[in-house]
Amino acid sequence: MKFAPFVDLLGGEGAQAWEILTESRLALDRGEDVIVLSIGDPDLETPGFVVDAAVDALRKGDTHYTELEGRHSLRASIANKISRSAGVEIEPEWVTVLAGTQNAFYSACRCLFGHGDEVIVLDPAYVTYEACIASTGAQQVRVEQPAATGFRPDVDAIERAVTPATRGIVFSNPSNPTGVALNGDELEAISRVAVSNDLWVVVDEVYSDLVFDGVHHSIAGLPGMLERTVTVSSVSKSYAMTGWRCGWAVGPPELGNHLRQMALINLYGLPGFVMEAADVALREGAEETETARAIYRARRDLVVKELSRASDLPVLVPEAGMFLMADVRAHNADANDFAWDLYRATGVSVLDAGAFGATSRGWVRISYGVDDLQLEEACRRIASFTG
Ligand SMILES: Cc1ncc(COP(=O)(O)O)c(C=O)c1O
Repeated sequence: MKFAPFVDLLGGEGAQAWEILTESRLALDRGEDVIVLSIGDPDLETPGFVVDAAVDALRKGDTHYTELEGRHSLRASIANKISRSAGVEIEPEWVTVLAGTQNAFYSACRCLFGHGDEVIVLDPAYVTYEACIASTGAQQVRVEQPAATGFRPDVDAIERAVTPATRGIVFSNPSNPTGVALNGDELEAISRVAVSNDLWVVVDEVYSDLVFDGVHHSIAGLPGMLERTVTVSSVSKSYAMTGWRCGWAVGPPELGNHLRQMALINLYGLPGFVMEAADVALREGAEETETARAIYRARRDLVVKELSRASDLPVLVPEAGMFLMADVRAHNADANDFAWDLYRATGVSVLDAGAFGATSRGWVRISYGVDDLQLEEACRRIASFTG
């Protein structure tokens, strides 16, 4: 049987790097001695009071269709959160509730970009962006954030990449895979390119609550940016709620109308009990987020310290999130080969960061989404593998 050309757009170049994750998870299920550091699903549990809110809602019969754009009280809680990080007042009408950052990102891309458009993607970039943009018919234009500068944005290169066909700039802040949290000056420089060329900015802020030092800055709050920024995020990482699939897109209400229409044809609203739980998390979960941030910060410090014992393995100290980048070029020019050799020799599964773009070829991404004991053991094995 024949499929639509659309299906050819759904892959993306980095797909093969994930085979190591599949393989190591199967080995883990078989009870083998492996440590999986190739995925970003937090090992922390969703807070009990959040689970209770969902169960209460279920028991009260919150099991029907819901508002396509999301419940008003949840939209208000999200608007409050974004208002705080952007430093500008954002109304609930600017918020559309969708099934996670991923769904929000995809939906936003479909509403903003199309055939003949070019979309600038800061490289390295989260893996799924490529296929989301390709699915719109637009061309992605990768702009290197060079490893030599710690993967920080090269704003001159971004500016040079703008053509009359450019419609938007896309990036995650803080970044997966690099753990870079953009500072005010960097965001301002990017915003100047966006404003002067009349571009959309789609920013993925799923790790915004996991900034370790300093505060998270939202580009939406900068002059001229509110009307051209779509901020996507979710409760996934802030409250250990990846499986609840609750996220949002925040942008001008006109975009909200289009997103609502998209939700009508491909989602038809989120479960009410999920939205009730997410709302409680956003309103009452500050302490839990603080605890999660402290845990990840401590793990980051642990991994940085332990990997300093490895030979010729420079690391980039992450400012945020749950991943650390390590440069393996002294051991193997091909980071995918390095990852497989490491896995076969030690049972530690890390990801070839080349999956995130050409800029991070030669690096691996190491997740610290497992407990301290496993992390210490994994680092010990990596250090002995590197000699
Ligand atoms: C940068 C980035 N964006 C989006 C996602 C997906 O998040 P969500 O669970 O909110 O869809 C992830 C998950 O790892 C991520 O790292």
